[in-house]
Amino acid sequence: YENKVVVLKSKIKSFPDFPKKGILFWDIFSAISDGNICKLLQSLLVDCIRTKFPDVEAVVGLESRGFLFSFSLASELGISCLSVRKKGKLPGDVISYEYDLEYGSDTLEIQKDKIRPGLKCLLVDDLIATGGSITAATKLLQTCGAKVLGCLVIIELKSLKGRENIPEGIPVHSLIQYE
Ligand code: PRP
Ligand code: MG
Repeated sequence: YENKVVVLKSKIKSFPDFPKKGILFWDIFSAISDGNICKLLQSLLVDCIRTKFPDVEAVVGLESRGFLFSFSLASELGISCLSVRKKGKLPGDVISYEYDLEYGSDTLEIQKDKIRPGLKCLLVDDLIATGGSITAATKLLQTCGAKVLGCLVIIELKSLKGRENIPEGIPVHSLIQYE
């Protein structure tokens, strides 16, 4: 396991001052342009889900980089693939959750008919920074009556302490951590 994580970590490039000055951008796309890394990453994520969230019924991807992983995981596990999107992107009846940003607000949505009360969900994204996205998605799913088992990300930016902002009782698993 450790060895696979080291290989994965070595393939994730960072870009200083992107998208803004002062931000160090960790680029998951640089890793998954290599097919062998895709297989390695998929196996790490699947193993994590099988051991930590064996009862999960739906993998929920966060727009947009979370979608890279939600479909492949749902497909390997044979469970539901659901998507949380920004406002106005999903057709039919949706449930919305508005949350505050540093400046202004944002709204996430999910299709109403995809969730039933008690559905055991796992949130998936490429990265946790402040934890704002995962917190909002958790609250959206809980509003719908779903049971959020936890969240799984590839990269955790520890200095931003996103983990501390996630609602209590929701475990966060990350494969790779940066300070
Ligand atoms: C990035 C990243 C996570 C989120 C993490 O997405 O992919 O989804 O930010 O930040 P947080 O923990 O502070 O909420 P971004 O909004 O850049 O959009 P993208 O996935 O569509 O590229
Ligand atoms: Mg994102």
